[in-house]
Amino acid sequence: MIVNETHELETYSLSKSTGLSELLKSHWNWTRDNFQDADRSSSIITIEYDSTLAAVARAAFRDRGFDDRIQVIEGKAEDVLENLTGSFDLIFVDLEFSAYKPIVAQILARGLLDEQGIMLVDNVFARGFVLGIQGSQNVAADTLDHWTEAGKIVQDFNDFLAASSSIRVTIMPFFDGIAEICLNLPA
Ligand SMILES: C[S@@+](CC[C@H](N)C(=O)[O-])C[C@H]1O[C@@H](n2cnc3c(N)ncnc32)[C@H](O)[C@@H]1O
Repeated sequence: MIVNETHELETYSLSKSTGLSELLKSHWNWTRDNFQDADRSSSIITIEYDSTLAAVARAAFRDRGFDDRIQVIEGKAEDVLENLTGSFDLIFVDLEFSAYKPIVAQILARGLLDEQGIMLVDNVFARGFVLGIQGSQNVAADTLDHWTEAGKIVQDFNDFLAASSSIRVTIMPFFDGIAEICLNLPA
């Protein structure tokens, strides 16, 4: 999901428990308020390569009257991003793990994140498997192989973030870990 147009973002309250629901609620309120204000030109682009899921998303946005402001582009994120121009205030990355590093690198290389923008990447703990925890209680036994592999891929991604001097990264330790990425601007 990527949002364009620069707005003042709300300060999120993270005081309760993990704070995730508050974060999502305030973000939703911000999105709804901005979307209901006809003078605003904020818009959202979502990218999905599964045609069935893309159709479900399109129908959901249409049913809520947001189809003129939320665009669902069907395709591989790496291909779609190549054709996007401009910069975006908020980019949310929640893809197959193998796409994390190339996609985030592509976003940064193409300047798609606004200077004041925020990129959030979900699941950067990979259910705890970034630490190589075997036999974790966090996942079903029949998914152990998947999460063990995911842990290696996501840890490699996290190392990539840590080594990138062009960005500032905060790992927010709620639910499955969210990386907040901002551009490291010259002082
Ligand atoms: C974890 S789900 C995202 C859920 C979404 N954030 C939501 O709240 O509805 C990941 C989705 O990304 C899609 N996906 C995974 N890799 C992708 C890629 N490289 N390009 C486009 N879509 C991708 C999958 O089909 C799946 O629907």
